[in-house]
Amino acid sequence: MTNVEVRPLAQSDVRSTFSCGQEDLDRFFHHYAAQNQFKLHLSVTFVVVVGQDILAFATVTAGSIERASLPPSRVKKRLPNYPLPVLRLARLGVDLRAQRLGVGKALLRHVLGLALDQRDKSGCVGVVTDAKTDAVAFYERLGFERLEGVREGLLMSEPEPMFLAIETIAAAAKR
Ligand SMILES: CC(C)(COP(=O)(O)OP(=O)(O)OC[C@H]1O[C@@H](n2cnc3c(N)ncnc32)[C@H](O)[C@@H]1OP(=O)(O)O)[C@@H](O)C(=O)NCCC(=O)NCCS
Repeated sequence: MTNVEVRPLAQSDVRSTFSCGQEDLDRFFHHYAAQNQFKLHLSVTFVVVVGQDILAFATVTAGSIERASLPPSRVKKRLPNYPLPVLRLARLGVDLRAQRLGVGKALLRHVLGLALDQRDKSGCVGVVTDAKTDAVAFYERLGFERLEGVREGLLMSEPEPMFLAIETIAAAAKR
């Protein structure tokens, strides 16, 4: 695809025509993404655009995770027992017209780059997200693991907490 750009949401972006087919995600993007970014400073939304046309959005926010929730790893043992900084991928949606063309993967790679920036500026042990059941396989393809311990008590229809360690992101970025 030519002239595709990933950039932060702008106040002037027309969001109302976007639809990823999931009502809650569309509602968030249409009504809350801009105010959360420009007025409340809760999150930043990145968009994939071709000209004025928005193909996808990803909303990120600062978050934290307890060490006990992390999947086993060599690094985990050395981490302290208090809330650890992560980048939270709060929402991700690709417009129905652009799904299955690699747009979601490209936007997620951009988000992983943001996690590396956060690592270097304020610390970050990885990216967490709450994956919709239908999207779990999409995240697994990109290396995310399910946070089994966090899942306890959730219903099967509820989002699946998933994690990608910063070491894995850094190793993939070097390839
Ligand atoms: C899930 C979603 C973000 C994926 O984005 P996309 O642009 O359609 O996916 P891509 O084309 O980048 O696919 C990347 C890879 O994941 C695979 N994939 C995409 N969606 C998948 C799914 N639902 N299940 C399994 N694999 C999937 C693709 O086949 C592709 O595999 P490959 O790299 O081996 O070729 C998008 O379909 C979407 O917005 N869905 C509706 C909203 C949603 O569920 N958002 C996620 C909320 S947690």
